[in-house]
Amino acid sequence: LKPNSNTVKRLPDVLIVGVKKCGTRALLEFLRLHPDVRAAGSEVHFFDKYYHKGFEWYRDKMPPTLEGQITMEKTPSYWVTRSAPKRVYSMNPSVKLLAVVRDPVTRAISDYTQSASKRPSLPKFEDLALINSTAGWGAPVSVDASWPPVRIGVYIRPLRRWLKRFSKEKLLLISGERLVADPAAEMARVQDFLGLKLVITEKHFYFNSTKGFPCLLKSESRSTPHCLGKNKGRSHPHIDPVAIEKLREFYRPFNEKFYELSGINFGWP
Ligand code: A3P
Repeated sequence: LKPNSNTVKRLPDVLIVGVKKCGTRALLEFLRLHPDVRAAGSEVHFFDKYYHKGFEWYRDKMPPTLEGQITMEKTPSYWVTRSAPKRVYSMNPSVKLLAVVRDPVTRAISDYTQSASKRPSLPKFEDLALINSTAGWGAPVSVDASWPPVRIGVYIRPLRRWLKRFSKEKLLLISGERLVADPAAEMARVQDFLGLKLVITEKHFYFNSTKGFPCLLKSESRSTPHCLGKNKGRSHPHIDPVAIEKLREFYRPFNEKFYELSGINFGWP
């Protein structure tokens, strides 16, 4: 869409606020299939890094839209930024929020895999996620809850913060697992929540068995089938099952509280 006299840049009506490595890029790219949605291409980081630049700076980062089109952006770090809920509310108390969540154990491995791809010398996942894991047989092993890949999977605390400012009707939680297993069904929920006519359907997706993920048959920018970039849907390293079980035990009580407050059982193992 070329800027013309009918289009103007507007502050976002909708934000994808997180969660990092849960499928936020997939959600944004899928939403962009909708003619009534326009999104900033890259992460803007206004409510965490650039808030001091002010709302006019932020507005200028937005794509031009026609009246009636939704303006949106995604910055996953908003989810864990303590000041973000208050700041977002002060921009627009009726903004709609989307957050993708995924089994926190897989999320942690995905987060680690991303860091390891940039820093090949990074220690093993198990050595970073667990404390005392190299202290020998029988040494007590506990989860390092302060390591960001572990900490970010405790979804309950940020959820409480967001729900202090926004009602549940304004925040849609999306299952990262279902976004992969049945993207059309999950996108139907999203379109309904955003009050959009149902445009994004089965017809847009195909399962690419080489990639192991749903991909797009066509989009606004490309008329041929394509998947998300190589940095989405990476293969993960093998992780010691004992470490996996430790992490599962660690997350279980937090997941249960998260299910309770959200009213959704995400069914993570
Ligand atoms: P992995 O690369 O570890 O598999 P984010 O965009 O928030 O960084 O999330 C990245 C994750 O999105 C990927 O993690 C992948 O599991 C998930 N994902 C969901 N749908 C996808 C799709 N259609 N193609 C690629 N990755 C997808």
